[in-house]
Amino acid sequence: MHRVDHENNSDLALRVVAIDDDEQHLKFIATLLSQDNVVVFTSPDSQTGLNLVHAKHPQLVIVDLVMPGMSGMDLLQRIVDFDPAIEVILLTGHYSSESAVEAIQKGACDYLNKPVQAEKLQERVDSLLSELRNRQHCLELENALLDKYQFAAMVGRSAPMLETFRRIRRVAQHFRTVLITGETGTGKELAAKALHEMSPVASGPFVACNCSALVETLAESELFGHVKGAFTGAVQDRAGIFETANGGTVLLDEVGELSPAAQAKLLRVLQNQEIQRVGSPSVRRVDVRVIAATHRDLRAMIKEQRFREDLFYRLSMVHITLPTLLERKEDLPMLQQHFIKRFAAQYGKPVRGITRRAQSLLSRYPWPGNIRELENVLGNACMMTDGEAVDIEDLPEYIRHTEPSEISPEGTVATLDEVERAHVCRVLESLAGNKVRAAELLGISRAKLYRILADSDLENSGVG
Ligand SMILES: Nc1ncnc2c1ncn2[C@@H]1O[C@H](COP(=O)(O)OP(=O)(O)OP(=O)(O)O)[C@@H](O)[C@H]1O
Ligand SMILES: [Mg+2]
Repeated sequence: MHRVDHENNSDLALRVVAIDDDEQHLKFIATLLSQDNVVVFTSPDSQTGLNLVHAKHPQLVIVDLVMPGMSGMDLLQRIVDFDPAIEVILLTGHYSSESAVEAIQKGACDYLNKPVQAEKLQERVDSLLSELRNRQHCLELENALLDKYQFAAMVGRSAPMLETFRRIRRVAQHFRTVLITGETGTGKELAAKALHEMSPVASGPFVACNCSALVETLAESELFGHVKGAFTGAVQDRAGIFETANGGTVLLDEVGELSPAAQAKLLRVLQNQEIQRVGSPSVRRVDVRVIAATHRDLRAMIKEQRFREDLFYRLSMVHITLPTLLERKEDLPMLQQHFIKRFAAQYGKPVRGITRRAQSLLSRYPWPGNIRELENVLGNACMMTDGEAVDIEDLPEYIRHTEPSEISPEGTVATLDEVERAHVCRVLESLAGNKVRAAELLGISRAKLYRILADSDLENSGVG
């Protein structure tokens, strides 16, 4: 094996592997193609050649059709299996249109006669080089765009996200209360922080409270504080979240999980800007902006009498709805770049991008866990990868086996519940049943995971 040329800037370099048992011819190709930004690796036999393809991941492979051992046609098959994006040119001493057709059908990009015409090969290489330059240019553009379309810590350039940014910017100056809704992992907390950071009270406290984690009996005390002796265990006076956030912003995350009693108290605070510590008769004034967030459909909860209508109207005077990732797929490339950059720095890895085939897999995946799931997947991938680009094998099993669509051959469309369930089961399977990891990766709570699984058990036993 011999290597020609300088591997200068590996991003711009075109890597070519040439495999031919005729060493004379190999030398000819290597000399012919050798130029700036082209690195040629050569091998006189097919197995070493295939290893080279695996190791160097070239954009172009030139293969002799007739060789001892593995034939050029078999080699072509293996290369296409490895990465269908690699261009393969087959060379032959004896042209036949049948084998040419077979080669093209198997995925070869061209079929040339030996001795190869210098011009033809050069043409191919030139066009690949210019494609490479275009991709490099795109990457630079993407990075420039990334800077441009970063809003607080939020990334996006799709119409719904730009609209969301605009609303946040306008509302931040004036709001007293805002409701943020959106499915799990769509960035509700991030949006809340952006609202606070752009508000006139940005230098004041930002206090987040996860309402679903509040123990019902202690919720009021957590929110509004208590005085010593107010209940067993209240050994001293204690300020609640609203007092701590005085002069700033409170985020009431998962506001749909508040008990009816806490809802009533909250409404009073919003109306009067006054709180009362549990067990205390006196009233304190607080100056707090309130952001409520939820992934639930509060209107449906109102119908079921699980959420107060008056509180809903109070909270939703300004309402920001975050789109799902599926609704803004055009943001995927930018988000991928954003997370890869971040994790590469975090893990000290030379990862700079993502391969085309990995990108196309990610764009086919439905992302039920939205941005959090994308973030987790790319975090794992950056940790796993050895290369400069995240590739298919760095992605989790369940994404590699995403079906192009969840439509059955009979044409019946699966319901979202069915897709969700099937997806959760697939993820769980790929993680050997580890529910904690599955919930993390999917970006959902363990409780939600159990609920989905419980539903699917009912269904399977024919009860549901
Ligand atoms: N537009 C965005 N750009 C970059 N990162 C984002 C964006 N939106 C969300 N993220 C990231 O995705 C993750 C999930 O976001 P966040 O916690 O705000 O979602 P959420 O809607 O509050 O989710 P949940 O409903 O599960 O509480 C976070 O790590 C956040 O940094
Ligand atoms: Mg959240």
